[in-house]
Amino acid sequence: MNAAPLLLSVEDRVATLTFNRPDKLNAMNARMMDALLEALEHTQTDEEVRVVVITGAGKAFMAGADITEYAQQDRADFNRFQSRGRSVYAAIEGHRCPVIAAVNGYAFGGGLEIALACDLILAADGARAGLPEIQLNLIPGGGGTQRLPKKIGLNRALEMLLTGQPVEAQTLAAWGLVNHVFAQETFAAEVRDFAKKIAQREPSPVRMLKQLAHAAWGGVDAAHLAMETQLLEGYYLSEAGQRQIQAFYQRSLQRQARS
Ligand code: COA
Repeated sequence: MNAAPLLLSVEDRVATLTFNRPDKLNAMNARMMDALLEALEHTQTDEEVRVVVITGAGKAFMAGADITEYAQQDRADFNRFQSRGRSVYAAIEGHRCPVIAAVNGYAFGGGLEIALACDLILAADGARAGLPEIQLNLIPGGGGTQRLPKKIGLNRALEMLLTGQPVEAQTLAAWGLVNHVFAQETFAAEVRDFAKKIAQREPSPVRMLKQLAHAAWGGVDAAHLAMETQLLEGYYLSEAGQRQIQAFYQRSLQRQARS
């Protein structure tokens, strides 16, 4: 039987959601997406929860969408996956609690997009984040083209989008995207302490502060998010859009056949 793709635990009023496909660097497949959405909905209504932390098992936070699953999706599957993704980002931004991305390692593609939707980002030293979709002949579909420029500025975001190259946690902290970088060895404990401090606060003002800070920020434009969706969904099944995905899938099948 397959292990649960997402683990949920609650301690000291902090709910921790852990992506749990470490052998696949926590690549997001449809099962994990559904489990994440369910866990976010659960924590939204569980009054015991005051802070949500999202992190990954093993050496990655998340290496993006599961490309081998992408390779086998038809248009309806792909559109459903993208639509569930949009519900996840909305559930994080609209959550009554602060949501913290605890980026323990690689955060690529949808992994970075989830972190971008979170209220705070804590990163382990050595973690790297990027939007490598261009290297697959694709574009991001989880709001990355919109939240990244708003959070780090247009030129830095365009460089990340156009090159697909990852950026170190320390640099992302200097750019103001990552709140704190903690040593690998103490990362889990530092994240726990950080989250616990906010969880001990009175929940109503915490909630109001999240709402007010988001109002000041202005969020991302719904029409621009829809444009990202429309462009990706129109392009994904094209020959160029499929070429790298199918090549990745074939390499993965060959590795499995050898092992
Ligand atoms: N989708 C599906 N499987 C993935 C994956 C993804 N996005 N990222 C990693 N994996 C799998 C690999 O296929 C491999 O599994 P396999 O050996 O059973 O095929 C396993 O995770 C480990 O990955 P590997 O590439 O061996 O690790 P690495 O440390 O050498 O490299 C990365 C790490 C992140 C640089 C590399 O895995 C990568 O480039 N992944 C794709 C990232 C990406 O393009 N994300 C955006 C998707 S839209």
